[in-house]
Order: sequence, then C-alpha cells, then structure tokens
Amino acid sequence: MITDLRLLPVLNSKGETSVKVSLVTDSGSYSASVPSGTSKGSNEAKELAFEKVRRIFPKLRQKIIGLEENPEKIDRLLISTDRTSNFRSIGGNLALAISIAAARAQSHGNLWKLDGLKENETFPLPIGNVIGGGAHGGGTDWQEFLLIPYMAKNPLEAIESLIHAWYAIGDELKKKSLLVGRNLENAWMANIDEEDTLELISSIAQDWHMRTGIDFAASGLWDGKCYNYRKSGMKLTTDKQFDLVKETAEKYKIWYLEDPFHENGFASFTALTRELSKNHLIVGDDLYCTSLRRLEKGIQEKATNGIIIKPNQVGTLSQSQRVVSLAHSKGFAPVVSHRSGETGDDWIADLGILWNAPLIKTGIMGMERLAKHNRLIQLWEDVPNPRMAELP
Ligand code: PGA
Ligand code: ZN
Repeated sequence: MITDLRLLPVLNSKGETSVKVSLVTDSGSYSASVPSGTSKGSNEAKELAFEKVRRIFPKLRQKIIGLEENPEKIDRLLISTDRTSNFRSIGGNLALAISIAAARAQSHGNLWKLDGLKENETFPLPIGNVIGGGAHGGGTDWQEFLLIPYMAKNPLEAIESLIHAWYAIGDELKKKSLLVGRNLENAWMANIDEEDTLELISSIAQDWHMRTGIDFAASGLWDGKCYNYRKSGMKLTTDKQFDLVKETAEKYKIWYLEDPFHENGFASFTALTRELSKNHLIVGDDLYCTSLRRLEKGIQEKATNGIIIKPNQVGTLSQSQRVVSLAHSKGFAPVVSHRSGETGDDWIADLGILWNAPLIKTGIMGMERLAKHNRLIQLWEDVPNPRMAELP
C-alpha cells in the first residue's frame, strides 16, 4: 500500500527546476524525476512550472495515499483527475513522475522487470548525438548528427566506442579551429555546415564501423510555407526539402532519419518512407508525440517505419506502453528517447529493455546521459541471458 507521496524540486541539465516524486510503500521508497524538452512538438502533454505543480500536488497526494501500488490504476486516476486531453490541469510532468514511481514500486525498483522476466532480455542499441545544431545549439540548422554502434556486443562496448568517436570528432574539429563548445546534449557545436558535418561523421562512422543518422527536427525550420535555413538563407518548399533529404540520405548513406519534415507533414513522410524504407529507418518524433491517435494515423498513411517514444510527451507509462505495443504489432521500430533537459534518473534505460526497443537515444557525454548508459551496463551484468538488439 502507498503510505506516503512527496514532491521534490530537482534541477535538470538545463538548470531548470523539474519534478521529482518519492513514493513510499510497505516495501520501500521509490522515486522518479522527469526530463524536459527544448524542441517540443505542439501535441505533447503540457508541462507545468514547478511552482504550479506544488500548488496542485496536495490534491493528488490525498487521492493516492492508501491505494495499492498498481501502476495501471494509478495512471487511470491521473487521467481522470486531470480531465483534459493533454494533462493541462495537473501537468504531464507531475503525472509522469507519479506514474513511473508507482511502476517502480510495483517492480521493487526494477522497472525493466515490470512485466516479469523474459527468456532473453534484449538491450537497445544506443544512438549517440555527436554534432549538434538547431534549437540545441551549434553550427547547423539540422539538430542532431548521430552515430549508431550497431556491431557492439554489449552496452559497455557500445558506449565506449561512442565516446571514442565523440573524442575523435572533437579532436578533428579542434585541429581545424572549428570547435565552439558543447550544446545542451553535450554534442559538439562547431563552425561547420551540414555538408562538412556529414563528411566528418561519415568518415568517423567508417573508421568505427557505425551507422549514421540525423535528427532534422524540421518543425523548427518550418514557417507554415517553407523550410527556412537560417545559416545559408535557403528557403525550401516541401518538394525541395524532400529532394534534399532524399539526396542526403542516399549520398551519405544516412540510415536513420528522424523528423525530416514538420510535425504535420504526414504526406511528405509517406512519400519518403515509400522510397527509402527498405534501407533506412524513417522515424517520427514531433510527428507522433508518443500519441496513440497520431501513431494510428501514421500507420494508416504508412508515414514511417519508426517512432520515438518519449513518455513525457504523453504523461503516463501505460499510455506510452500502448503506443509501443501498437508500434511493435505494425512493424514500426520504437526508439525510446531522453530529452535535452535531463535529470540523473535512469528509467529510460529500463524502459528500453522492458519494451524490447531496438534503439535508445540517450546522448553520449554528461553525467545525466551517462547515468542511463551506466544503468544498461550494470543491468547487463545482472540480467540472465542478456543480448544486444539487432538493427530493425
Ligand atoms: P528535445 O528534443 O530538445 O525536445 O528533448 C530532442 C529531439 O528532438 O529528439
Ligand atoms: Zn527529435
């Protein structure tokens, strides 16, 4: 039984005050803190400021104390208490912190085992952000240039190779006097355009036997008519953006393509998926916002073959779980993901295993990112019969 629930402020990696809750049951105390995005989709659950959450919290606390630690039931209570479609009244951030703490309580702190032990637990392959731009900071309009160590035999080998590649890229940028610093996710910021970045990451990927990816975060470029490239002054129509994405993917063999079009550009996604899905993973992030309804539309329109899963885009674990199940059942690869403003909490790592996700996006450097890697590295030692996921 839940005997206490506390709300605590916690600073995230952007220095903002985020929500943490601590839930006490007869068997122990379980906490969870939630991250915060920067390039958010407009269909995400609403995130409330900490002071507002503080005012709302006592009402929820009263309802939750005395209940059994049944995460599904608690999620339903959160949804019914909120009474809006996007957690406008209690905040998706508060809802998710409670939802995860309840699931942690149910699984005695081992969220990855929430549904029981599987015969072979599969560990997701990490996707590492090495060079950045856009809303996260950096020289390019595209937000993230990514590496995927798909041949790694375990999580330690995977993150070690990502770290080496990250340093090698930093050294190369420094040598050419292009290095500016690190951005919100600790990807390198440099005086470099898309083309030179692609050359650089392609050669590093070859040296390290990795696949490459881009998160275009194209909603940030879209003004309702055109895709605006601030650095070059280029304004691209939907068709021209399509051509640029396709040419880039083919010329540089970019396997992973996230949000190449704006969040309502389903038709462009469908056209790209029709042409590239055989050899590429086309992933919707802002396109879906981890919403079941939006994924259903994506499935109907064959818009992508992958979907980003960010539980704080929707507000509870059970809603996220339903999106993951639907994605799996339709052959869409679920990619569990961190946010640019992260806390030291590591639940996203457990969810990667629990949900059988082939890929996890959780950055490379910075303790808030390494916390997730460390969790995977340590679980690899504990879990019976672990194996690395294969590329979808
Ligand atoms: P975020 O975005 O800054 O909203 O976390 C990261 C992403 O677009 O994948
Ligand atoms: Zn994204």
